[in-house]
Amino acid sequence: MSVETKIEALRETLRHHEYLYYVEDAPEVEDADYDALMNELKALEAAHPELVTTDSPTQRVGGRPKEGFAKVAHSRPMLSLDNAYNETELRAWSDRVHAALREGETVEFVCELKLDGLSLALHYGPGTDGSSLLQRGLTRGDGTTGEDVTTNVRTIRSVPLSISAAKLKKAGIPQAFEVRGEVVMPQKAFQKMNEEALAAGLPVKANPRNAAAGTIRTLEPNIVAQRRLDFYAYFLLQNGEMLLTGQQETLDALKAAGFRVNLHGASVKSIEEVLAFIAGAETQRDTLGYEIDGVVIKVNSTAQQARLGFTGKAPRWAIAYKFPARAGLTQLKDVGFQVGRTGKLTPVARLAPVFIGGTTVSNATLHNADEILRLGVKIGDWVQVERGGDVIPKIVKVDENHPRGTQEIVFPTHCPVCGEPVVREEGEVDWRCVNASCPARLREELRHFASRGVMNIEGLGDALVAQLLGQAEIEPEEGAEEETVAAPVKREALVHSVADLYTLTMDQLLTLERIGQKSAQTLLEEIEKSRRNPLWRVLLGLGIRHVGERTAQLLAEEFASRGQDYEAMQALMDASEEELQRVNEIGPIVAAAIHEFFRGEKNRQLVERLHELGFSFTAEKRQKTSQLEGMTFVLTGTLPTLKREDAKTMIESAGGKVSGSVSKKTTYVVAGEEAGSKLDKANELGVKVIDEAGLLQMLG
Ligand code: IVH
Repeated sequence: MSVETKIEALRETLRHHEYLYYVEDAPEVEDADYDALMNELKALEAAHPELVTTDSPTQRVGGRPKEGFAKVAHSRPMLSLDNAYNETELRAWSDRVHAALREGETVEFVCELKLDGLSLALHYGPGTDGSSLLQRGLTRGDGTTGEDVTTNVRTIRSVPLSISAAKLKKAGIPQAFEVRGEVVMPQKAFQKMNEEALAAGLPVKANPRNAAAGTIRTLEPNIVAQRRLDFYAYFLLQNGEMLLTGQQETLDALKAAGFRVNLHGASVKSIEEVLAFIAGAETQRDTLGYEIDGVVIKVNSTAQQARLGFTGKAPRWAIAYKFPARAGLTQLKDVGFQVGRTGKLTPVARLAPVFIGGTTVSNATLHNADEILRLGVKIGDWVQVERGGDVIPKIVKVDENHPRGTQEIVFPTHCPVCGEPVVREEGEVDWRCVNASCPARLREELRHFASRGVMNIEGLGDALVAQLLGQAEIEPEEGAEEETVAAPVKREALVHSVADLYTLTMDQLLTLERIGQKSAQTLLEEIEKSRRNPLWRVLLGLGIRHVGERTAQLLAEEFASRGQDYEAMQALMDASEEELQRVNEIGPIVAAAIHEFFRGEKNRQLVERLHELGFSFTAEKRQKTSQLEGMTFVLTGTLPTLKREDAKTMIESAGGKVSGSVSKKTTYVVAGEEAGSKLDKANELGVKVIDEAGLLQMLG
């Protein structure tokens, strides 16, 4: 046998075992035997490097992408799904489907589990001998453009690197096609990852979805390969169009081609059967080994799908039935205290770890001292913890059978981070650390300043902030939920206040970890750009108590009439409490806070320094006549193309108001993907609901 034949035979055998192990969950050989075959192949390839191919099982882990991930347009938008939360909403959807089709036309539904992961698009192209090769893996991104995470996708063992001509033929799939599906982290892998993080003193991930999202975007394929991810395929496209005539046929073809397809699906003919499927899925939920958050119901026929079409953000031919929030009972072991930007101390419940809906919950917020009183909770009590979707778990109830020896929760007299005494002002609920240079406060200030809704400095994330402050790095990936206070100072701080950001140099940035020339350059440009932010953003960035976005905008608008740009800022700094109170919507408490802030010499110096550093403080009087005048909008869920921030700016610049909660006064609720309770409230109150397309239409 020639070396070439030997190598190819080994690859075939290994692929077969990988398929059995990772796709079928039914290995035929021991791990050690698999390893031996793999080592044999590695040795042969090392001796014959000219024979190495990209789809060899030895080539799953490649080099790291140097500077982040490239952005690539999707062949057709990766849309989201509308949600149904109960039987009524589900039936209403089915009625809409039937109404849109011809009378008496039969509809088949395919029920699939709604895997709680993130969607990926995999592109395959022609290989040699009629086979297909994995060419590209993209994240959903904003739905239109995704990130090229191919190097990481290649490490997922249930993603075939190549598909033989024979398999393609059997499945009825051409050489060039696109597969879409969900990448998930199995619960076991998630637990292992968190255990390792804990052992290394790193923060843990909140849930498997965050862990999967963080992992797929890690710039270290090695790490991705160690963390087991799974990919379940559910769509098959060619040039952005559905390839086959039905969803069930698609799933069958994907399976025949060697993709992992979720086996808990079913083809059904009536909404009654759909309901039965949902009931079954709910009972299976805890035994699956991976998280699901509902059931996706799809109209089977591609032709019917085409006739049903899409609303702005979601297909009419599919819907996501979402399971209700999950709760668990556990014991309160202790209470820790976090220090926020304004010095506010937030009590955090340390719980005996409890598995709720696929996630180990060991922390929950207790908000403030009043909440603790309201709940009547003490250390040692048994508590009911609830967690829904992404929200931080919260304690909703305390078991009335208090165990013996429970202890009162005592607020600390000194800041847990800097050790200075904490104070609680008269009439206030919160205790605060008032030390302006408390390291915890400075870190939160910078995070706030750089954030999207404030100065919008892209690239200045938590990890970088910590590094700039000379504190131990927090969490390099997205999805971190733990608010661990950074460990003691490890290196010299490059930044001591927000103003220092504006004197950072390339050389300084390059001394930091995980930042290359290109991202340093982008960051410097982002920082530079932020100098030209409008006055209201700068005001917001200063972190004056009680001054949120709306107040900052009102102030900027009002003082714009007192002078140009920096003059407007100066007029504001010098304004008396009475003057401030005369501003529309500003009351005595807010006026006092603003006045107090600008009485502080340090704060005035900071503003002057920002001026010297070239801040433009652009203040414009708002145009009054506009199409959304007098209307109030509430945004909920993720919109398909607009960031929430942009939608808000667009509405406001058209004269509309944006509010955080739905009431009878709300004119429209703009709902996106995963819209939750606000949408329910809107339906309850009969408030009109529109999608992004509807909003854009109104804005002309
Ligand atoms: S179909 C346009 N099928 O749920 C159709 N999605 O809430 C969209 N998901 O973005 C996808 N399991 O990430 C589909 N069996 C399944 C799914 C599924 C999970 C996710 C997917 C999608 C989100 C929508």
